[in-house]
Amino acid sequence: MKKIIITVDGFSSCGKSTTARQLAKELNYVFIDSGAMYRAITLYFLRNHVDWNNTPSVEEALKNISLEFVYNDYTGKSDMYLDDENVEAMIRDMVVSENVSEVAAIKEVREFAVEQQQKMGEKKGIVMDGRDIGTTVFPDAELKIFMTADITVRVERRFKEMFEKNKSITLDEVRNNLEMRDYLDTNREISPLRKADDAIVLDNSDLTPDEQLQIALGWAKERMQ
Ligand code: DC
Repeated sequence: MKKIIITVDGFSSCGKSTTARQLAKELNYVFIDSGAMYRAITLYFLRNHVDWNNTPSVEEALKNISLEFVYNDYTGKSDMYLDDENVEAMIRDMVVSENVSEVAAIKEVREFAVEQQQKMGEKKGIVMDGRDIGTTVFPDAELKIFMTADITVRVERRFKEMFEKNKSITLDEVRNNLEMRDYLDTNREISPLRKADDAIVLDNSDLTPDEQLQIALGWAKERMQ
């Protein structure tokens, strides 16, 4: 079977990472959560008070940022490291979620992240999830999946996830954040979120994680022949 590149794009909190990670595990492929890279850059900007509306400040800051995914034996997942520090938990905080779409819309930030993502795919055998993976990062990928789910389902899923860490979070806060990110991600100038013409839509509103995985696995195996 040949090694391929699989891209999984779609709106916030529609289960992209879960499906992409499981798919990679089944195929013995590398899984990359590209959103974690934009989140880590946002965390750096917030911590270091980088004025991201000022291009020279952004360029200077990016020179000091080193991003790396390191496999965690305990969780069985890769953690995001920012300058040798494990920031996996911090990049999921609400303050990062509230600012990440703005940071991810900056041209220099996207160039910085996309270049590293493309390098990760040089040897193929990779599943990467994000917003522009099938359109910009790997336009020639052999399998492109565009995931979507009903907004109510997405809000509930995200709320459950966030409530475990922060009991004061409300359903409205989660909904507002999701809607705002969807709007910014879809309407930004550079590499907006959109379905690649050759992507297959996977609507998982009524699917269990295992059903989604089996569908995606079937598509992947066809393309690997
Ligand atoms: O997948 P996520 O929700 O963790 O992504 C966080 C943000 O990063 C999301 O709001 C948009 C941005 N993003 C992006 O612009 N391009 C990607 N390939 C991945 C994420």
